[in-house]
Amino acid sequence: MSLTITPARGLRGEVSVPGDKSISHRVVMLGSLAEGETVATNFLPSEDCLATVRCFRALGVEIDGPDRGTVRIRGRGLYGLSEPQDVLDAGNSGTTMRLLLGILAGQPFFSVLTGDGSLRRRPMGRVTAPLAEMGATVMGRDGAKYAPLAVSGGRLRGISYRLPVASAQVKSALLLAGLYADGPTRITEPVPTRDHTERMLAAFGAAFERKNGTVSIVPAPRLRGGEIAVPGDLSSAAFLIVAALITPESDLLLRGVGVNPTRTGLLDVLARMGARITVRETRTAGGEPVADIRVRSSTLRGTVVDGSLIPRLIDEIPVLAVAAVFADGETVIQDAAELRVKESDRLATVRQELAALGADIREQPDGLVIRGTGRLTGGRCRSYGDHRIAMAVAVGGLAASGKTVIDDPACINVSFPGFTDTLNSVRLE
Ligand code: S3P
Repeated sequence: MSLTITPARGLRGEVSVPGDKSISHRVVMLGSLAEGETVATNFLPSEDCLATVRCFRALGVEIDGPDRGTVRIRGRGLYGLSEPQDVLDAGNSGTTMRLLLGILAGQPFFSVLTGDGSLRRRPMGRVTAPLAEMGATVMGRDGAKYAPLAVSGGRLRGISYRLPVASAQVKSALLLAGLYADGPTRITEPVPTRDHTERMLAAFGAAFERKNGTVSIVPAPRLRGGEIAVPGDLSSAAFLIVAALITPESDLLLRGVGVNPTRTGLLDVLARMGARITVRETRTAGGEPVADIRVRSSTLRGTVVDGSLIPRLIDEIPVLAVAAVFADGETVIQDAAELRVKESDRLATVRQELAALGADIREQPDGLVIRGTGRLTGGRCRSYGDHRIAMAVAVGGLAASGKTVIDDPACINVSFPGFTDTLNSVRLE
């Protein structure tokens, strides 16, 4: 299977993007551990989130849906999960595997977690090492650094832990394990990362606090479920935002997009590059700020992206590199070595595939240097089974002079089911 993208004059009209992936995972997890029913609307029915739903069903949780965006989770309480009969499969999803490891570490039963070829190559030692410090027994390949991983959990010790890498997944795994500890768990982040777990834990009644760069959680007696309206995913909106900026006749309105400040680095960088984007905050949903975003075709200039900005736009770097091709001057992205351990080695795959489309792009050990040439030719590209690579290349193809063919595009369903239909609903031929 392949996806063919032909050049477009622009994107015009209004769209809603699918629900936020990070928040959809967390609502299933916390809803399962809560008491009472949790109902999530605008839940993201993508492959990654469905993997989380399947894992929690295997742990004995009754979950209805997703049905037209609604999921109903009948919470089992913190101590109500049951031992799974079979291996839990997280598919392609790092969030499922890492956060679930934190929860399983606190359960008095045995479980085994695995994933697809990409996930089995991704580093898990960053989670299993601190969980072992908390008292869990985790075994796996190369000293529990890679899945499959076997977990034998139980009562845990609260620890103080400084994260060696800025990772919301690791922070979240330890916060979830902290629910089962005998005292407070304190996690210090080198740089702030997305705080969806903290916001949802607060909404569900857990006691924690943030002081400077440290989040502390005290073991909760119980969590309480409720209703959560999942905001649209800014990481999905990012593809449409960049597509509108780099095609000449665009005026696009994206409705209901989550704009949690730990996620909006792309909007800050694009503003600095000269993008005509207006953000009108409209409401809060599920404890998260939500906005309508208007994007018009823009003349962009190159910039430097580094330091504490990186975790705030980590998943948007592939599509930011596409914007940089259409900017005047050079764009330098650095301090982004984490991209090498995502669904693919994104520094290598972005460089290879944008070069295949005609970009002037160089790879550095921790980043990319893109010389803005204002043009792409189109060509034949691979996705490497990485959803964000497939969509970034598709966005480049919209602004290219010729046709772009992307091999193996099914991975797009990992985060953005309906991506091509959404694009086609607003594209000007
Ligand atoms: C996520 C955190 C980030 C991000 C991923 C989703 C999350 O990963 O890249 O797509 O939901 O917590 P890291 O924590 O590994 O940086």
